[in-house]
Amino acid sequence: MPCSEKNLFPVETEGGNTIQSRWDVICAALESECKSSLDIRDAILRYSAAHAKRWDFTALNVLCTDALEHNEVQRLFEVLLPSMVQLALNATLICTQPIPLLKQRMNHSITLSQEQIACLLANAFFCTFPRRNARKPEYVKDYPEINFHRLFEGSSPKKVEKLKTLLCYFLRVTESRPTGLVTFTRQSLTNFPKWESSRTLLSRLHITCEGTIEDQGYGMLQVDFANRFVGGGVTGGGLVQEEIRFIINPELIASRLFTEALDHNECLIITGTEQYSKYSGYAESYKWKESHNDETPRDDWQRRCTEIVAIDALKYRHFLEQFQPDKMIRELNKAYCGFFRPGVSSQYLSAVATGNWGCGAFRGDTRLKALLQMMAAAESGRDMAYFTFGDAELMRDVSDLHTFLTDKAVTVGKLFVELKQYFNIVCKNCSGPQPDVSLYGFLYERLISDPEPTDTENTAATPSPSTG
Ligand code: APR
Repeated sequence: MPCSEKNLFPVETEGGNTIQSRWDVICAALESECKSSLDIRDAILRYSAAHAKRWDFTALNVLCTDALEHNEVQRLFEVLLPSMVQLALNATLICTQPIPLLKQRMNHSITLSQEQIACLLANAFFCTFPRRNARKPEYVKDYPEINFHRLFEGSSPKKVEKLKTLLCYFLRVTESRPTGLVTFTRQSLTNFPKWESSRTLLSRLHITCEGTIEDQGYGMLQVDFANRFVGGGVTGGGLVQEEIRFIINPELIASRLFTEALDHNECLIITGTEQYSKYSGYAESYKWKESHNDETPRDDWQRRCTEIVAIDALKYRHFLEQFQPDKMIRELNKAYCGFFRPGVSSQYLSAVATGNWGCGAFRGDTRLKALLQMMAAAESGRDMAYFTFGDAELMRDVSDLHTFLTDKAVTVGKLFVELKQYFNIVCKNCSGPQPDVSLYGFLYERLISDPEPTDTENTAATPSPSTG
């Protein structure tokens, strides 16, 4: 932690070099008056001198000189920044214990108060976390970046919009101290379904091309299309599904302080974060819109009833790679790890709210991923709500196939066998970069002649509710 007495700092004096508590240097630097973005830069560089040449504060300057109205700039330097400094420097009072790390292969939970998280994020804003700025093996090689210095750099309008979104959060939590809790749970599974022999039937599907996971996924397990370094490019230039979720629910960013990179059999579940901003657009067109009052009820632990699961898909260089059985098993297991809750009966599990997981930046095939997520949801005892993010044709294709598979009571195991057949018969003999036969066309053809299930066989299947 920045305020740890072990956080020492070499200081040059007349008598030569001495060692000083870096926290003292941070306090002195941040308590000096800040009237401009240059003062913020100077303050930060007083305890990060080693990065003075490398760190660039252009985006912060653009925010303060061009993007904000005069009265907003005034409020920023006269009210908000001093409050953020106070919040950050109160770390000795608010975060009194070192925070444990959620390391690989751990099944462990950390619960923090929203106030503690706000304090940690204020420290991240002022880049006070030591040893988190260079990827030195002994400290951070497998942890995401936490300090915000890359948010301040460059002239991309995306950075300015991200900073506006984060400052909206800081204004809210400094104006009125949040009182809830947030739990971060690392889940690392060692046992997975035997996909090929599964006799599980598909669960129910609601699919729509309208809405988003965060707006329509209320009360469901909401999927974060993650990077193995949770949060991905949120403290840098990234601004697609995960990064957007992390800046409109900034408490998610705290996970980057203590969550080691996810392994193939792991996920991170975050319960209780609050949404503080509304936005418009996506990626290059993202814009902060306004402050948002999250009315989601709180549970007995005073956590907002919002459960988000970070699962990182594989990134594919070549389209056909993802149809290899070992790659499909990896994605099935990753999704299953995200959806499965040991010891919780299916009747108490909410539906998964998901979408084109792994099919944007990671270049996966939407129709394959929709199927794999359906199989993982079924195996973990959950229904699925799928948001195609405007793709009406995808909605129709997935809905029709789901109805076909459900009517014929096709099991997860049978589906997996057919997926492997698709790889062996179509993909392996493919001359071009894309298969000549579509996956769903192949499945219809292979399964159409399967006998209709007898009534007794089909009792387990439940009709899928209205779709579209
Ligand atoms: N709700 C529903 N669907 C969405 C939403 C949303 N709010 N936002 C985006 N989508 C859809 C879009 O169709 C998008 O192309 O999900 C698709 C995949 O989104 P990506 O963020 O590109 O996810 P992925 O391909 O898994 O890439 C993950 O991107 O955000 C980074 O840190 C992340 O490095 C990781 C990578």
